[in-house]
Amino acid sequence: EELEHEARFQARVDAEERIEANDWMPAAYRKTLVRQISQHAHSEIIGMLPEGNWITRAPSLRRKAALLAKVQDECGHGLYLYAAAETLGVSREELTDQLLTGKAKYSSIFNYPTMSWADIGAIGWLVDGAAIMNQIPLCRCSYGPYARAMIRVCKEESFHQRQGYEIMLTLCRGSEEQKAMAQDALNRWWWPCLMMFGPPDAASQHSDQSTKWKIKRFSNDELRQKFVDATVPQAQFLGLTLPDPELRFVPDEGGDGTTGHWHYGQIDWDEFKQVIAGNGPCNRDRLAARNKAHAEGEWVREAAMAHAAKRQARQQA
Ligand code: 3HC
Repeated sequence: EELEHEARFQARVDAEERIEANDWMPAAYRKTLVRQISQHAHSEIIGMLPEGNWITRAPSLRRKAALLAKVQDECGHGLYLYAAAETLGVSREELTDQLLTGKAKYSSIFNYPTMSWADIGAIGWLVDGAAIMNQIPLCRCSYGPYARAMIRVCKEESFHQRQGYEIMLTLCRGSEEQKAMAQDALNRWWWPCLMMFGPPDAASQHSDQSTKWKIKRFSNDELRQKFVDATVPQAQFLGLTLPDPELRFVPDEGGDGTTGHWHYGQIDWDEFKQVIAGNGPCNRDRLAARNKAHAEGEWVREAAMAHAAKRQARQQA
């Protein structure tokens, strides 16, 4: 009986059908989606912290307004993604508790500090750039609610990347000190951005199954390579040097020398393991900030619940 269900389910996925919340699905499919979607949502919420850090110190009103809009967008992305996770039968409170108690993972990238205004440019350009690489294929994920959440997220993400790249361009065309700030930010964000795509395919425990279920459309290494190939020319245009002495262009076999890939050096997977184990530069700060905000927001949640209860009572009266 169960095997029949599984076979029918896989046939639907193979036929590129969308799986919706009320459809039959293997327990493991549900489980891995709750895992990935909740971690994705946590990443959006935690991702507000490094950026929010610079809202009061933005160099102009225009930059402040754009950063405010971006941080607000990230919060909205968290909302869409928690809502998508709830369609799988898990509650918002449960997911929030997993994050606040340190049980849940979120993207490693947000455990690094934002040391200067140039970091806001580097985050928009590189982190949101990497997120776009990863999120565009997720628009075609087999699970409907997740795929639809991604379509809206990707539209907003491209604005984030553009405003980040424009900050970097402005700095690179500014004074020597400004260009040095941009170079310093690139030096600190480049390698952690490559880690965002996850461990190498050989060490990726979920990739095979997630690919079979069309949750993952490209492997971690494929997306990482796409990101490097797209970003190296942008760094060159900025006049910045990527912090990788092994970086070199490898033309396609038998091509005309213009197409190919950028070979990059060894990623420090020990650093990656340390960061997702909770020992990154900012892990403790991030969770402390989230817990503080959650405690301070208690009265808002209580008021909203009281209001909802009153409204419901009025409607039933
Ligand atoms: N940070 C933290 N944990 C990571 C990670 C990272 N960068 N990359 C992988 N991991 C974890 C995985 O969660 C998994 O651990 P788990 O079993 O406890 O969940 C383990 O490392 C093994 O990795 P796998 O490759 O087997 O795991 P996945 O198949 O889930 O692939 C992924 C990892 C590519 C990140 C995938 O989960 C994914 O595509 N997630 C959705 C996208 C996402 O979360 N993006 C975060 C970017 S930040 C963002 O979007 C905000 C933007 O607005 C700036």
